[in-house]
Amino acid sequence: MKRDLLTCDALSASEVQTLMTRAAHYKANGLKGNFPGLLQGAPVGLFFEKQSTRTRASFSAAIGLLGGHEIFMPPETLQIKRGEPIADTARVFSGYFRAMVIRTFEQERLIEWARHATIPVINALSDLCHPCQAFTDLFTIFERHGKFQGLKLAYLGDGNNMAHSLMEAGAIVGMNVTIATPVGAKPNSDWHKKVQAIANKTNAKIVLTDDPKSAATNADILYTDVWVSMGEVGDKVSVVGKMKKLDFAPYQINDAIVACAKPDAMVMHCLPAHRDEEITAKVMDAHASTIFEQAKNRLPVQQAILEWALQT
Ligand code: CP
Ligand code: NVA
Repeated sequence: MKRDLLTCDALSASEVQTLMTRAAHYKANGLKGNFPGLLQGAPVGLFFEKQSTRTRASFSAAIGLLGGHEIFMPPETLQIKRGEPIADTARVFSGYFRAMVIRTFEQERLIEWARHATIPVINALSDLCHPCQAFTDLFTIFERHGKFQGLKLAYLGDGNNMAHSLMEAGAIVGMNVTIATPVGAKPNSDWHKKVQAIANKTNAKIVLTDDPKSAATNADILYTDVWVSMGEVGDKVSVVGKMKKLDFAPYQINDAIVACAKPDAMVMHCLPAHRDEEITAKVMDAHASTIFEQAKNRLPVQQAILEWALQT
């Protein structure tokens, strides 16, 4: 059966552990290509309906290092833009590519791609979740701590795609995750139920709160993301963006929040960052080595994800 990565729970806990080992292997190899490698010259399709710096570039590089090549299709160039169904496009692309990497809006679009493609479909971010980033974050945490159980990750900010994938990834590996958001920006409640069901099996504590200080207290990892995500478009950005900035101010990662966490706490950000909004420039500078290592880790983790997806 083909392997789609639409949400983190496509992988079992032991598959996530293997992903960590394989990412470490690829990281140790650096930029040494592996030819003909896993992909043996085969093309992989990239279709991104939103901007991307890290995800697109790291997938393109990963595909090259695995001996394949990427075909990048800007959304305005495809017939989808003129109404051709995803179902037909997915069927056609299944004849051209070994896998598809897709960044889009509604999760339902990804589900539609996966349903009609006979090749693996990898979620490169949707409005709902960002599994590839969350797996990189697990890898970055594992590099530092060598374990997940007993750790507390505190995410402060918007209950968005990143918050969703971090709580899901934490639940799978048994890491405690607290999500602190304004009341109006909580994670999706159906998603929370799904994650809690996973956590019940692994004993991970998943906590949702509107209290940023209690969330940060004794955290091993502090994490944040932008307050306004891609897809919150047009007038909504300026109006909601302003409202969000007001609502979100107590959730900024700053010296006071860092002081609540453990003294050696990691500070993480998926990037892009807005300095002095969700994180102060000072905290960002002090933790730049972690945050940019996290960004660097996208490459070996994408290689490991492609390897997982291409297993038959
Ligand atoms: N973190 C992340 O996914 O970055 P991009 O939007 O640049 O891909
Ligand atoms: N929540 C952000 C993540 C960017 C990587 C967004 O969706 O824009």
